[in-house]
Amino acid sequence: MVERDNLRYTTLPLRNGSGAIPALGFGTLIPDPIATKNATRAALEAGFRALDTAERYGTEKEVGDAMREAFKAGKIKREDVFVATKLWNTNHRPERVKPAFEASLKRLQLDHLDLYLIHTPFAFQPGDVQDPRDANGNVIYDRGVKLIDTWGALEELVDEGKCKAIGLSDVGPETVKEIFEAATIKPAVVHVESHPYLPEWDLLDYCRNNAIVFQAFAALGHSSQPNVLADPVITAIANRVGKTPAQVVLAWAIQRGTALLTTTKTPSRIEENFDVSTLPEDAMREINEGIKSRVRFNAVVKTGVPGFIPRGK
Ligand SMILES: NC(=O)c1ccc[n+]([C@@H]2O[C@H](COP(=O)([O-])OP(=O)(O)OC[C@H]3O[C@@H](n4cnc5c(N)ncnc54)[C@H](OP(=O)(O)O)[C@@H]3O)[C@@H](O)[C@H]2O)c1
Repeated sequence: MVERDNLRYTTLPLRNGSGAIPALGFGTLIPDPIATKNATRAALEAGFRALDTAERYGTEKEVGDAMREAFKAGKIKREDVFVATKLWNTNHRPERVKPAFEASLKRLQLDHLDLYLIHTPFAFQPGDVQDPRDANGNVIYDRGVKLIDTWGALEELVDEGKCKAIGLSDVGPETVKEIFEAATIKPAVVHVESHPYLPEWDLLDYCRNNAIVFQAFAALGHSSQPNVLADPVITAIANRVGKTPAQVVLAWAIQRGTALLTTTKTPSRIEENFDVSTLPEDAMREINEGIKSRVRFNAVVKTGVPGFIPRGK
């Protein structure tokens, strides 16, 4: 059995003096708006203090509503919650960044953000259609803008005091290095798919060496097959330490030095996912060395098209 401890309250410092991010974060990529609002509110009540959303998820308004209600209830203050959202692919042109950012802030009902991420390194045709396609159904990319120019527009948001930290999402090590080396304000966070079947050790090393927070999304493997939570190494540890498979996987992510995002619309799982405790060293070793499966569930890094958002949304 493992004892209840403070692992759930772990925070990771952000470079550029922009504060710290809670390691254990709640994602809001939930298709149903009412479920999104209820889950976000329940997550705040359960103790989660980092929320992740995106222009593309269409959940900013519901996340904003849930925060407003929680702040009004009085127990949680704005400054207690680390809020992140993301710039969508159709807004990479530098002149589109600030309007997109302001629109996100308005939906979230906030006056500043803690973290703004470029959702993917792929620029799509600028405009209001989030999933622009040609007559053959192929994505229409925008070849007229470079990622570093989009990054420059995010740097301006930091300079103006509108957002504390900026970062990249759905990127590989090459893109992280390219932006890191060229940037004036270096990326504070790199947000990528990661779980025991996709540990991304090389990218994590690069992030550690450059004081970048590595934030894992799909930390439980997004309920996809093969199911990380049914892996025999994970279930054996869960039985041994008296925790659930999800709690084992989330603890592993925090203990190896990453921030993470997990999502559930199920109230009991919200409580469960916050109730993590430190795993013994042998359990960490078993996961690191005993799990050989390697699976990427979300192909967004290859095309910029989100794998977990239903097409047409
Ligand atoms: N940048 C990107 O491209 C990108 C892509 C994907 C996700 N994200 C972010 O990362 C967040 C997390 O990703 P994710 O949704 O894939 O997270 P995840 O936690 O790996 O997967 C969520 C799934 O796991 C289930 N689940 C949650 N807790 C569980 C538990 N204790 N036991 C068993 N099953 C459990 C949920 O089911 P129920 O809801 O039915 O309980 C849901 O189907 C997203 O919300 C989003 O904010 C970013």
